[in-house]
Amino acid sequence: MTVALTWLGHATWLIESNEHRILLDPFLTDNPSAQVAAKDLNPTCILVSHGHFDHTNDLVTIAKRTSAPVYAIFEIAQWLGKQGVESATGMNIGGRVKTAFGSVKLTPAVHSSCLPDGTYGGSPAGFVVEIESKKIYFACDTALFSDMQLIGKAGLDLAVIPIGDLYTMGIEDSIEAVKLIGPKKVAPTHYNTWPPIEQDAEAWAQLVRTNTSAEPITPAVGKSFSL
Ligand code: NI
Ligand code: MN
Repeated sequence: MTVALTWLGHATWLIESNEHRILLDPFLTDNPSAQVAAKDLNPTCILVSHGHFDHTNDLVTIAKRTSAPVYAIFEIAQWLGKQGVESATGMNIGGRVKTAFGSVKLTPAVHSSCLPDGTYGGSPAGFVVEIESKKIYFACDTALFSDMQLIGKAGLDLAVIPIGDLYTMGIEDSIEAVKLIGPKKVAPTHYNTWPPIEQDAEAWAQLVRTNTSAEPITPAVGKSFSL
């Protein structure tokens, strides 16, 4: 069974397999690169990496409408409860939870996190998602850090890493990240949403090919690829 991935723009991803539709960091409203509206998404699971608006703008509305289970760090799950979302499970870094499709593990990320109303968001996080015997690492918003090597030891079919610079690692550090993680395939995220994080994805892909053993994948927004 294949796993289909779709970049919905910025850092928002949809992972689909069989009846499972996992939505990562829902940011459609006010996202200049988004092509779908929040109301047209019907996830069966929602993952949230940290509290910044460009990862949570549509979180509460989609979670309330669908009642989909939400997995996030403890502080964000608590905040969701206060917003009337009853389906959130609080986790912490290093923890794994079994899910309807496989499992989700919360990984460290070097970043910051507060929710749009100023509430402390706990530690920012990434995810290792296991689905249909595929392992996918979403580094989410982060700097380069050497423990990425440990995350890669899981044997990853795909890593999705930020390349936009300014708020996350940029292209140069992302190549070092690919070397540490050692995934079979790698896709870029968190770029080309606004001018300050514009990047040339094809130039990045060429650097990946030249300097690492991973296969780069640079889908356009809205175009799916399969694992
Ligand atoms: Ni952020
Ligand atoms: Mn961000």
